[in-house]
Amino acid sequence: MTTSMEPVLAIDGPGGAGKGTVSRLIAERLGWHLLDSGALYRLTAHAAGKHGVALDDEQALARLAETLDVAFLAENGKARVILEGEDVSRVIRTEEVGERASQVAVLQAVRNALLARQRDFQKAPGLVADGRDMGTVVFPHAALKIFLTASAQERARRRYLQLQESGSNASLSSLLNEIQARDARDIQRAVAPLKAADDAVELDTTELPIPDVVDRIQRLLAELGFKPSV
Ligand code: DC
Repeated sequence: MTTSMEPVLAIDGPGGAGKGTVSRLIAERLGWHLLDSGALYRLTAHAAGKHGVALDDEQALARLAETLDVAFLAENGKARVILEGEDVSRVIRTEEVGERASQVAVLQAVRNALLARQRDFQKAPGLVADGRDMGTVVFPHAALKIFLTASAQERARRRYLQLQESGSNASLSSLLNEIQARDARDIQRAVAPLKAADDAVELDTTELPIPDVVDRIQRLLAELGFKPSV
């Protein structure tokens, strides 16, 4: 249970719905901390590859998750993720690591191992928490819970454009297949499945531009008394 009184904005939803961008923009406007919980699952999956730990060795993966030597840095406005002294900011964003992260994320012991680490991010003046189970499991007392969705086609299209911009190649149809497979695993898993909390506000971003999504969330926060700091 979350006992601290620092406010949390929980933003959950499937990959590619815009959670990352929206969470970052709102955290900047409010001057709140940011938790990218997916990065912790990606880091665990990446560290497993590095240390030769099998993706079904639940206990070894949980130990790895608990003892991850990781630092989240912000340099010149860019987020950097350092694992065991190595900059892994780019490699953990690949489709391959995302797929492995989704496999690791079905394991209860791994999720338990990452729970305290995620709750440690809840500090003054507040936290924007981005993930799949922020509002349902990690921060059930969040001040505001948002569930962001978008059609699988639109999410695949966004990912395709993102990869093209970074100079990587991928086909739209293979991205769509991967997104659908990952959605299925995240939704169907027994432990902390991807789903909207009963008290979450659902926003479909398929045809809603990011600035409008941010404005809507900001209005909801303002109604609760949380105003931008900048
Ligand atoms: O948001 P992302 O693509 O970085 O997440 C990678 C994987 O991690 C995703 O397939 C599901 C898992 N995940 C999770 O199970 N719970 C979270 N709170 C965040 C991510």
